[in-house]
Amino acid sequence: MNYFYPFLIMSISKLKMFKQLLRLSKLTSKNLKQSRNYYTVKRKAINDEQYVAKQIKQKIQAKGPITVAEYMKEVLVNPMAGYYMHKDMLGESGDFITSPEITQMFGEMIAVWLINEWQKAGSPRPIHIIELGPGRGTLSNDILNVFNHFKVLHKASLHLVEVSPFLSSAQARRLCIQSSLTSNDGPAYRRGTSHHGIPVFWYNTLEEVPSGYSLLIAHEFFDALPVHKFHQVHGSFKEVLIDIDTKDESEKRGEYKFRYVLSRHETPMSKTLIRKGETRDHVEVAPDSILISQQIAERIKKLGGVALICDYGHYGNGTDTFRAFKEHKQVDPLVMPGTADLTADVDFKLLCSTFDSDKDILCMGPVTQREFLLETGLQYRFEMLKNTIKDGKRLKNLTDCYNYLIDNDKMGERFKFLAVFPAVMKKIFERCPVVGFQTAPH
Ligand SMILES: C[S@@+](CC[C@H](N)C(=O)[O-])C[C@H]1O[C@@H](n2cnc3c(N)ncnc32)[C@H](O)[C@@H]1O
Repeated sequence: MNYFYPFLIMSISKLKMFKQLLRLSKLTSKNLKQSRNYYTVKRKAINDEQYVAKQIKQKIQAKGPITVAEYMKEVLVNPMAGYYMHKDMLGESGDFITSPEITQMFGEMIAVWLINEWQKAGSPRPIHIIELGPGRGTLSNDILNVFNHFKVLHKASLHLVEVSPFLSSAQARRLCIQSSLTSNDGPAYRRGTSHHGIPVFWYNTLEEVPSGYSLLIAHEFFDALPVHKFHQVHGSFKEVLIDIDTKDESEKRGEYKFRYVLSRHETPMSKTLIRKGETRDHVEVAPDSILISQQIAERIKKLGGVALICDYGHYGNGTDTFRAFKEHKQVDPLVMPGTADLTADVDFKLLCSTFDSDKDILCMGPVTQREFLLETGLQYRFEMLKNTIKDGKRLKNLTDCYNYLIDNDKMGERFKFLAVFPAVMKKIFERCPVVGFQTAPH
């Protein structure tokens, strides 16, 4: 059995780990019996589905066409009625599904990987577990279960960066025995205590998270950050803007619709965000992703830790990827804004160049989700769980979930993993390479 989670076994005695893993497998197969259920979060009564659209229309009427980034921000995080601010968008009854929601095996593999990297750094404490954009809190919950199992929660705390107060309360329900909104006595807007007894805090931005050795995870967070879109016309980049679609009749039917227009000239954004020698006709850039990558780099190099960024994306060759999802179908992002999720593929080349520009940072990847999960031993975990399940339906469900995560035509290829470390770890990695990232240095 010493092939199971081989990387963890590097740092803990084989026998001890083996026993612990067996216990973990029992624990999780018991959880699996209850099957992952999608609890329904009550929707705040928003009577006006057109609220966001009306706001955007007013904005455009007042100052002319807006950038796609402005549109995306308004649609997703408008405090009154933004998409993330008032609905539980995940799961079968929602608009899309993410890996942590598919099976707990996903979060387990990430948790074991984080523990292994933490041990290689000498098991520093206190530990700040940080998640950016935690959705329903499922991934953090699965990570805490594994950390608790391996008894590494001593002096640990969980820090969630979540812009939506609505989702923060859904996360609290999943993760905490108690939580409450705080008065203005610190950067956290909500505090609680997890089922495992560790403190949990919520913030609006990463910068507000207090200093400490950090195990940071961002899963499907970067793809939600607003992008500017550019189109190359006769050798110069014009910005794609959004205007009111005056010709469209849908507003009369109670539906708002917008349309794309091109800026007449280059814009300040096209001048600053387009790289020299860019050859693509269509380019999308998310400035916030550069800013947040810089904040991650600052934190990791000053305080120690590791960051794992998982998202769908490309390596600098993506073009027109801005799209919307509603009830698991791709829909027009310009129709009825606020009622569908908006997303754009993450440019991992841009993230890598931000990290690589800092000599105190070591950035690895991106590797595909398939590579990461198989190299970290997902297939052994799957086999182990399979052997504990007798019921045919549950077995099929587990197999489907496993395949969904790693099949190249499902999530295996499109989703990428990027790891960020302080450069001082380089020497340690020569002896103990980073599992999951051995095949693909960029
Ligand atoms: C696509 S969901 C991903 C949820 C979860 N990570 C998962 O994989 O299931 C995006 C999450 O990021 C949050 N979010 C979006 N933009 C944000 C921002 N600018 N700052 C903080 N959180 C943000 C959303 O509210 C939501 O929780």
